[in-house]
Amino acid sequence: MSGPRILAIETSCDETGVAVVDGGRRIAANVVASQVALHAVTGGIVPEVAARQQLRWIVPSIEAAFEAADTGWEDLDAIAVTYGPGLIGSLLVGVNVAKALAASHGRPLVGVNHIEGHIYANWLTDAPDLLPAEPPFPLLCLVVSGGHTQLVLMADHGRYRLLGQTVDDAAGEAFDKVGRLLGLPYPGGPAISAAAEGAAPATRFPLARPGGRYDFSFSGLKTAVLREVEGYRARGEPIPVDGIAAAFEKAVVEQLVRRTVAAAEEHDVAAVALGGGVAANRALRRTLGERLGGLPLLVPPPAWCTDNGAMIGAAAAFRFAAGDRADASLEAVPALALPWQTAA
Ligand code: KG4
Ligand code: ZN
Repeated sequence: MSGPRILAIETSCDETGVAVVDGGRRIAANVVASQVALHAVTGGIVPEVAARQQLRWIVPSIEAAFEAADTGWEDLDAIAVTYGPGLIGSLLVGVNVAKALAASHGRPLVGVNHIEGHIYANWLTDAPDLLPAEPPFPLLCLVVSGGHTQLVLMADHGRYRLLGQTVDDAAGEAFDKVGRLLGLPYPGGPAISAAAEGAAPATRFPLARPGGRYDFSFSGLKTAVLREVEGYRARGEPIPVDGIAAAFEKAVVEQLVRRTVAAAEEHDVAAVALGGGVAANRALRRTLGERLGGLPLLVPPPAWCTDNGAMIGAAAAFRFAAGDRADASLEAVPALALPWQTAA
């Protein structure tokens, strides 16, 4: 396999992800220590708990990744780490460990933006021999996670233009909050998706129309679900959880799909790519695929949509090839943005 072998570390939120990736494409190991079960107890992420768990699991995860890839320091060309956006306490763990490893083993360090990682999940493969074709440019990327909802036009590696984003909650955050309103387990995304599968929508929620052409809004929808639930409670009727979940999911998907299809047409893109935890949603994948007609839709497998180290290793390889190097001064940046360009 040509290209650098990169050790990639992702600790921006509540998953400890460590991967070994070759040439930015091929996964040699992808270890994820998840805190989902822990946060299910509190119904959401408690930042200090997340940071402490990162500290607990980072070294065992690195050891497990080395073992899974059957690799050692002599084979590694660089160390990559997510330095933002994310929770400060969680980010600090990965950044600090990556800096220490880079210094002690004399390897170059590459800082990676978490959102860029979600996009580059589309470059990954675990195919044993044949390397699939790379995603084509211009590429329209819909990044939908627990913390972010952005429509990004990618002209080439590292060249991003922000077409639109949420004006309030992220799509995944809306799933999680509505899941809690409906009494479903955390995280709400997979739970709502499972409840909605095959259920007839119990109502029809109106489509949000925030300011910008490609902007998103989900907080009004969350309030509409709350009113609906309160209505059933006030009337003493049982709450049709599956039907409300289906109506909510439909409204979210419709908003995401309409903006994405319109942007794909306007910018005449070569393909559309999904990324982020909500990209694991089956209704979103299905509906977007149908509405895009013949345009290729790239969707990473669910395990690469949610936070993981491999996607950071993929993004890092292209930054590494472009000469990007971080040093001991690398800081964790909770509100880190992609380097937006005004025209693609
Ligand atoms: O990308 P991710 O792992 O973490 C962030 O960077 O935020 O995304 C987690 C989010 C959660 O809000 C979760 O509810 C959502 O992704 N999610 C889903 C599904 N699986 C995960 N949302 C809708 N449908 C799913 N199947
Ligand atoms: Zn993420």
